[in-house]
Amino acid sequence: MTEVAVKVDHVTKSFRLYHERNQSLKSAVMRGRTSVHDTFLALEDVTLDVPMGSTFGLIGSNGSGKSTLLKCLANIYYPNSGTITHFGKIAAMLEVGSGFHAELSGRENIFLNGSILGMTKKEVTKKLDEIIDFSGVEQFIDQPVKNYSSGMYVRLGFAIAINVDPDILVVDEVLAVGDGEFQEKCFQKFRDFKAAGKTVILVSHSMETVEAMCDYAAWLNRGTLEIVGPAAPTIRAYLDTLPTGA
Ligand SMILES: Nc1ncnc2c1ncn2[C@@H]1O[C@H](COP(=O)(O)OP(=O)(O)OP(=O)(O)O)[C@@H](O)[C@H]1O
Ligand SMILES: [Mg+2]
Repeated sequence: MTEVAVKVDHVTKSFRLYHERNQSLKSAVMRGRTSVHDTFLALEDVTLDVPMGSTFGLIGSNGSGKSTLLKCLANIYYPNSGTITHFGKIAAMLEVGSGFHAELSGRENIFLNGSILGMTKKEVTKKLDEIIDFSGVEQFIDQPVKNYSSGMYVRLGFAIAINVDPDILVVDEVLAVGDGEFQEKCFQKFRDFKAAGKTVILVSHSMETVEAMCDYAAWLNRGTLEIVGPAAPTIRAYLDTLPTGA
């Protein structure tokens, strides 16, 4: 039996959607403490196993719950019910800029992020040159990251995440922000990860990327899992539901 890196077991995550924001002080007072909201299920009873050492793609339309699932994996969100278990150290590269402090320099953010991801100051110092080198933003490393371009953010964030040496690397769509050369560098890193027996979970809207990189894929549709299995047939099933030409 294949070993499992991440076990997602009957995970449901809901959000409250508030309506009728108070238009005036009077209406706020009249309503008192009651608030009007719907419960929106971003993930509904999702169960899947990510095999250890695999590259695993998450696909689905905008708003289908992919990022929500990644945030649950990274312990940023907690499921309302169900459990997520991961075996090994996890590093996540989520939205552009998440985990960065805008006023701090690139260098300071490397230390901040490294420590959030569980590295000691000594470990970060040891890897500093490698991180800066991989990021390719050396010239701007002492500038506050608020002045970085989106691509520069992603480069630095990814450089940190891979140098933490995780067993499981979780990457949201962000790589699409990087240029072709950087994307190729990242894909090479994914291959290296795989060769080292590590697990990569990635979200992408590029079916070519998922098909080229992933062994398995899971297709989320409005918060529910449609299919999980080998990448190629899962991608085909998803594409079959899209209007032609999309
Ligand atoms: N913190 C939140 N509060 C309320 N709703 C949220 C929150 N986070 C996500 N959602 C909702 O959950 C749904 C799924 O969002 P999610 O970001 O997981 O989608 P996605 O599959 O990553 O989409 P995309 O391809 O556009 O990145 C959306 O309808 C979104 O509005
Ligand atoms: Mg998303």
